Amino acid sequence: MSEKELRIIKSSGDGESKNREAQWFYTDIVKSHFFSPKNIIKSDDEMKSFKADGIGLVGSPACGDGMKMFIKIDGKTDTVKDVKWQTYGCGTAIASTSIFSEMIKKDGGMKIDDALNIKPRDIANELGGIPARKFHCSVLADKAFREAVNDYFRKTGQKNRIVEGSAKVIDQVLKITDHDIEHAVLEGATTFEAVQKKTKVGIHDKDCISQVEELIRFYKKKYFGED
Ligand code: FES
Repeated sequence: MSEKELRIIKSSGDGESKNREAQWFYTDIVKSHFFSPKNIIKSDDEMKSFKADGIGLVGSPACGDGMKMFIKIDGKTDTVKDVKWQTYGCGTAIASTSIFSEMIKKDGGMKIDDALNIKPRDIANELGGIPARKFHCSVLADKAFREAVNDYFRKTGQKNRIVEGSAKVIDQVLKITDHDIEHAVLEGATTFEAVQKKTKVGIHDKDCISQVEELIRFYKKKYFGED
């Protein structure tokens, strides 16, 4: 694994974080949320009694893990009153979702639109950084929450507020989509060569190469704040 792949996702670069960049490590915040996750559902009874207004279920194509999120909404104020979750994901997914659930419940609950604006990078920063290779794990919380909110919008007749991402085919020969490129970037492939190695994109369809390069730039900026 290259040193770049081990880089810690962190927007502020103090001396201490730079020294850590070439190490494999989890911050104390990650460890504390992993060993003592907040708002996690511990039993079927707890899940049944929660009476969620919206439920979101997503899986990670990068590793096959899954995340289920349950939300309660105050319809009058459009805020997230409560959130619970379950996952088969790894320690980073557990820590990320735990801290994400605290972020959206803070001060009596965030407005739905503000909570939807939380990016995986914000979650990683709250955790004090996570290894780049584990970044896709933090995306599960964000996506499961989006699905739960969409479910709430569907059930309450607010279809105009539903946002769903549909995949677009980029490589016309191998039928590789923008979502495949996104997942490759989230797994740490940040150059065209690295993305091609993972997905085989552009091997037969040379016309898509510039579009792939543009998508890599877009996803690097979106998730890592890099050009
Ligand atoms: S959620 Fe699957 S490896 Fe982290």
